[in-house]
Amino acid sequence: MPGARAVRLDANSHDEAVGRSTRHFLQLKDLTQTELEHLFGRARVLKERQRSHSLYQPLRGRTLAMIFEKNSTRTRVSFEAGMAQLGGSALFLSSRETQLGRGEPIEDVAEVISRMVDVVMIRTFEQDIVQRFAAHSRVPVINGLTDEYHPCQILADIFTFIEHRGPIHGRTVAWVGDSNNVCNTWLQAAKLFDFNFHVATPPGYELEPERGESYESMHLECFNDPHDAVRDADLVTTDVWTSMGFEDEAEARKREFADYRVDTEMMKLAKPDALFMHCLPAHRGEEVDADVIDGPHSVVWDEAENRLHTQKALIEFLLLGKVES
Ligand code: CP
Ligand code: NVA
Repeated sequence: MPGARAVRLDANSHDEAVGRSTRHFLQLKDLTQTELEHLFGRARVLKERQRSHSLYQPLRGRTLAMIFEKNSTRTRVSFEAGMAQLGGSALFLSSRETQLGRGEPIEDVAEVISRMVDVVMIRTFEQDIVQRFAAHSRVPVINGLTDEYHPCQILADIFTFIEHRGPIHGRTVAWVGDSNNVCNTWLQAAKLFDFNFHVATPPGYELEPERGESYESMHLECFNDPHDAVRDADLVTTDVWTSMGFEDEAEARKREFADYRVDTEMMKLAKPDALFMHCLPAHRGEEVDADVIDGPHSVVWDEAENRLHTQKALIEFLLLGKVES
């Protein structure tokens, strides 16, 4: 029966695409340290090309689908602009306006979209959603933020650290505040790049170490007092007290996180040349004082810009492999 044969052949090619050759970026540790370092090298090259207006368009005719179930400024603009700069195009798909918002199964959406585009970026709630999407996708899937992880952010953050201070190996990164998706991803980075990760969270909001997956205890130290966590740190970083999806807890969190604001006095305990980072958007007067985020230690604008360059390197790698030129 011709129809049955067509289905069988199709299933084989699907297994091949999903099981063997398709790489995804759902967590930072989905790439090896060597591959991540390759991305940083490429990000440097692509950043220079962008700044000198030198055209580099290896992805002509390729399409990125961007699925957003949560709000975004940086992630949307950096992926959309980045794909255009590489010669391709990007589609913005809000769950409100697609059938996802009316309950179409994520597996079905993955099967369909991945037959039409070359790469997919998803921002959603549970990590399980991006994993299920990837399991049914013929093309690479990138996690653009879930409740658990934000790997694209940490790509940009480490690249920014390297640009300003050189290798992050052996350094100390201090996290103050909520043990959220960005914090979990820093923990994975600590193992991959072999640095010390200090975390200070309020009682009841402690890091769940399994979020870092196979982290090693030498890479993680938890503190009750944020001042102890930042002492002699090379980088101090924080994030909003209330992440997207947790808005019902916002008032309680304002009370419980009140002692976990990064201020000038706290920054004085870090190394004199310590950097300050924040993935943004920030709430001045809550998790960070204006004096810090707008002050001399802060590299938040470079950090935001580097989302563009590191994600271009990521897409290039996922679609074209290790490009050296
Ligand atoms: N840092 C970050 O992911 O920003 P957006 O929420 O604006 O994308
Ligand atoms: N932790 C924040 C990061 C926003 C970019 C959130 O999930 O809302």
